[in-house]
Amino acid sequence: MKFFNLDFFTKRKERKMKEIAEHEALARKLAQEEEELEKKKKQLEKEEQLKSDTPLVKKSAAIENSKVKIWRPRPTDAEKTFAHDEILVSKTDVRGNITYGNELFVKLSGYTQEELLGQPHNMIRHPDMPKLIFKALWDTISQGKEINAYVVNLAKNGEYYWVYANVTPSFDREGNIIGYYSVRRQPNPAALKIIKPFYHELRKAEAVGGIHESTKLLVELLESKGMDYPELIFRLQYNRL
Ligand SMILES: Cc1cc2nc3c(=O)[nH]c(=O)nc-3n(C[C@H](O)[C@H](O)[C@H](O)COP(=O)(O)O)c2cc1C
Repeated sequence: MKFFNLDFFTKRKERKMKEIAEHEALARKLAQEEEELEKKKKQLEKEEQLKSDTPLVKKSAAIENSKVKIWRPRPTDAEKTFAHDEILVSKTDVRGNITYGNELFVKLSGYTQEELLGQPHNMIRHPDMPKLIFKALWDTISQGKEINAYVVNLAKNGEYYWVYANVTPSFDREGNIIGYYSVRRQPNPAALKIIKPFYHELRKAEAVGGIHESTKLLVELLESKGMDYPELIFRLQYNRL
């Protein structure tokens, strides 16, 4: 029993360190991609300005398009999935407006990159998501910490897709938060068997008494398991519950 526990914690530490290394590599790649994107945007703005008859600085096509109001799709029962070795990445500014999406993120959302850029991230919010999870997300990341969460998203055509998201702040050299990014992997199907009915209960509680009521349910669950939220989510994803 003792050895099992030691083994578990060593493996968990190793996995965590591997995850951190992967995130750092990804963060570097994202920073590079963002820099390139920024360059392209500037180039595009320059070209547009040259074409323009007026001396006013025109915004890039992407940002202009983002002002177009996008309707909320009607959710359907059809699910979209992705492979276990694929990741969906998006970045936001400090207010949660999308500044970047990798190819798979864009593809699964069903929107074009132009439709997504500049929009609030709640553009792909699914009505089945409890408010409490997003409150926990924002409370955590705005304090400079990362959070893992199961999220169901709504694609443009009304289909849904579940992800296991890791949302992390990006910092400048002085340690100020300059935005956030989310790296999403395939969720553990066994975890979703627990999460889906639990989110349903959270939504019902919120319909009656708002986040105050759903918080009570989450606290009850965590107390019954003797864990905090990060541990519960970690154990769910890695079959350790
Ligand atoms: C980096 C980042 C990624 C996010 N990804 C998602 C997402 O995939 N789906 C989603 O519904 N909300 C996501 N959010 C949270 C949204 O900003 C928003 O809080 C949420 O959709 C709830 O919308 P509401 O606050 O308007 O109720 C993300 C936020 C950040 C900062």
